[in-house]
Amino acid sequence: MANIPIDKSIDSTIALLQEGYLFIPNRCRKYGSDIFMTRLMFKPAICISGAEAAAVFYDVEKFKRKGATPKRVQKTLFGQKGVQTLDNAAHRKRKEMFMSQMSPENLHRLSDITAHVWKDYVIRWERQKEVVLFDEVQALLCRAVCEWSGVPLKEGEVRLRAKDFGAMVDAFGGVGWRWWRGRLARIRAEKWIGSIIENIRKGKMQTDKGTAAHVIAFHRELDGTFLDQKVAAVELINILRPTVAIATYITFCALALQQYPQYRDKLKSGAANLTEPFVQEVRRFYPFAPMVGAQVRKQFTWRNYTIKEGMLVLLDLYGTNHDPRQWQNPEEFNPERFVNWNGTPFNFIPQGGGHHLSGHRCAGEWVTIQTMKQAVEFLVSHMQYEVPAQDLSFSLSRMPTFPESKFIITNVKPV
Ligand code: HEM
Repeated sequence: MANIPIDKSIDSTIALLQEGYLFIPNRCRKYGSDIFMTRLMFKPAICISGAEAAAVFYDVEKFKRKGATPKRVQKTLFGQKGVQTLDNAAHRKRKEMFMSQMSPENLHRLSDITAHVWKDYVIRWERQKEVVLFDEVQALLCRAVCEWSGVPLKEGEVRLRAKDFGAMVDAFGGVGWRWWRGRLARIRAEKWIGSIIENIRKGKMQTDKGTAAHVIAFHRELDGTFLDQKVAAVELINILRPTVAIATYITFCALALQQYPQYRDKLKSGAANLTEPFVQEVRRFYPFAPMVGAQVRKQFTWRNYTIKEGMLVLLDLYGTNHDPRQWQNPEEFNPERFVNWNGTPFNFIPQGGGHHLSGHRCAGEWVTIQTMKQAVEFLVSHMQYEVPAQDLSFSLSRMPTFPESKFIITNVKPV
């Protein structure tokens, strides 16, 4: 048996928060290894990177999620007792509830609603001196996903709710005020969505059958009971919050069009069918979800290393998507790499890996890809805009990150 390389530090939590997306890749490079041992929040943890590591991490016989997510993340980003914390049959049953929303017909309905809201926002932007794309797209997506999910939302409420969903995501790598903003946002959102669940159950509010709000309100657990009202709110927010978060990727799509303008014409002509490869490359190239964690179910051996039961293991998502063994010139933005791309469930993992139903892979991957493609079509074909001088840089040490200026556009005109 070999010894896992040890990151020599009393505790690396501060280094993780300072180095962000590069914390794991930096150390893998330093130790010449896809695995190293460290200490996070004063407990031992193993970090792993690469497609082979992902294949092990998503083996449900080897890993479980119960007890893996720190309370600080549950209180902001995830919520408590949601699908992310479940294992085995309980996870499967809950995941089926999410995946029932992802039928082609339902995705089509979301696409129609979102297109309608985009048109409305482009007309509004025409009247604005400048538009902060990141904030506006959060609001736009909040309106669209609430309508899709059967959640009533008044016009005057859109900004507050969108900001709250954004704050929960932004709290991930934050401390102090950033964390508290996410905490307060979650408390407010759970109260709001909890009362909607209650009203639907009591018949005081009508929602269409089949919408997420209806499905979650009347979902039955393995024992035949309804979800606790608070847990139902957490799960409905598990659809609303990440859909609003697609604004981060859409902002990166706008940045990619700015940084690599040759793709604007290629995308506009539609000749090379490049929209999907373009958004896939945005998901690979730009940083969003940095890593995911799980706990070892039962001791096992990987590459001659003993991985002990109960150990927290973090899988490096960002580094795996930039791994030179998988991606030629990984630091080059090259959408063409996704034309005729032969992927596996483990080598391209911006939203986790493995399988959707049996594992924890993101339930909203198709929603994300579809919504990004639609945004790219709007940005290249249905609106004109200018990009004034601004700071478009983004820091890899902030998790999550986005362009410093949040991407400002001016002189917007519908086309
Ligand atoms: C899980 C990323 C959008 C719903 C995840 C995971 C990641 C992720 C990294 C964890 C995978 C794991 O634990 O192994 C993202 C990113 C998104 C996004 C970067 C882009 C904005 C969405 C959307 C939805 C969604 C649009 C819903 C409409 C979920 C759910 C889970 C999940 C329910 C939990 C799955 C489970 O534990 O079984 N996502 N996601 N996500 N995502 Fe997403």
